Amino acid sequence: MTYFEQMQEKLKKIREQKTVRVLAIETSCDETSVAVVENGRKVLSNIISSQIDIHTRFGGVVPEVASRNHILSINPIIEQALLKANVTMNEIDVVAVTQGAGLVGALLVGVNTAKALAYAYEKPLIAVNHIKGHIAANYISHPNLTPPFCCLIVSGGHTAIVKVENYTSFKLLGSTQDDAIGEAFDKVARVVGLGYPGGPKIDKIAKDIKPTITFIKHDTFENSYDVSYSGLKTAVINYVNTQKQSGKSLDVANICASFQKQAVEMVAKKAIKACKDSNLNTLVLAGGVAANSCLRNTLQNLGKENDVTVLFPDIELCTDNAAMIGSLAYFNLQTYEPAELSMSAKPSIPL
Ligand code: KG4
Ligand code: ZN
Repeated sequence: MTYFEQMQEKLKKIREQKTVRVLAIETSCDETSVAVVENGRKVLSNIISSQIDIHTRFGGVVPEVASRNHILSINPIIEQALLKANVTMNEIDVVAVTQGAGLVGALLVGVNTAKALAYAYEKPLIAVNHIKGHIAANYISHPNLTPPFCCLIVSGGHTAIVKVENYTSFKLLGSTQDDAIGEAFDKVARVVGLGYPGGPKIDKIAKDIKPTITFIKHDTFENSYDVSYSGLKTAVINYVNTQKQSGKSLDVANICASFQKQAVEMVAKKAIKACKDSNLNTLVLAGGVAANSCLRNTLQNLGKENDVTVLFPDIELCTDNAAMIGSLAYFNLQTYEPAELSMSAKPSIPL
C-alpha cells in the first residue's frame, strides 16, 4: 500500500468514529493560529498570535515579514494549542491546514508544517479553503446552524454573496468586481491618517457619528448581486484631496461614518435580497468585516423587516483563526479524500 492509500484507509475509519479531533493550522496572512476542534463545532483551543504590532509601522502587511514571523511562531503555537486543549498529538485524528487563498510565503509556512506533522504522526492531512473556512466559523458560534443558508462573505480579500447548499457545496451569487470591502476600509483609514488595521479604527471613530457626506450616488451593479468598492474608495480619496487642496480641515469621524454607511448599505440590501430570492430565511455573515458594528446593526434591522434571521460569528472568530479551519476540515473529511503530501499552497483559490 502506498502512503496515500494508508491515509485513505485511516480516514475511512476516522469517519466512523463518534469523536473526531482535528488539529488545524492557519497562516494565510498576518495571524499565526493553531486550534484543536472536536466534531467541527467544539473548540478545545484556538491560539491566535497576531502580527498587527509588527506590521503597524509599515502601514500594512509586508508579506516577507509575515512569512518570517510565522516561521518563528508556528512551533510554540502548536505546543500551546495542544497544551490548552489538554491533548497530545496521539489524541489528534487529522491535521488540517489553510491551503489558500492568502499570501504565498505565509501559506507555505502552515502547509509545510502541517505536512511534516501529518507525516511524522501518520495522520491524514486535510486541505482547507480559507474563504469557506470563514463561513464555518458560524458552525462554532451557532451549534444548531445547518445548511442551506445564504452567506455574506466580507473580508480583507473577498466580498461575496454565496448560497451554502450543504457543508461542502457553495453557489456564488455575486461578488465584488474590483476591491474587497475590507480592502476599502483599510485604504480609506490610511488616507484619513488612521493607519493599519483600518477596519476596526473606522468602526470605532464612526460610532455615534451622524454621517452627512454622500460619496457616490449610483450603484454600478444595481440589478445584480455584484458590488464595486473601487468607486466608493476613489470618491473618498478625491474628497479628502479636494478638502486638503482648498485648505479645509478634515472631519475624519464624519468621513469615516459616511464611508462606512455607504459601504455597508451597498452590500447589506443585496445580501437580504439574495436570501429572499433563494427562498432562504437565514443569512450568515463571515470574514473580518463581519465584526463591523454598523454592518451588524444594519443587517439585523433589515433582517427583522424582511423576516430573515441574521447570524454573525463571535467577534474573535470573524477575523483569521484556526478554529474555523478545524471546523470546515471536519465537514470536508466526511466527503473528500485526504490531501497528498505533494499538495502546495494556492495563493488564489476559487470558492
Ligand atoms: O477575514 P480577515 O481577517 O482577513 C482576510 O481573510 O482577508 O479580514 C481582515 C479585514 C481587514 O480589512 C480589516 O480591516 C477588516 O477585516 N476588519 C474590519 C473590522 N474588523 C476587521 N472592518 C470593519 N470593521 C471592523 N470592526
Ligand atoms: Zn480571512
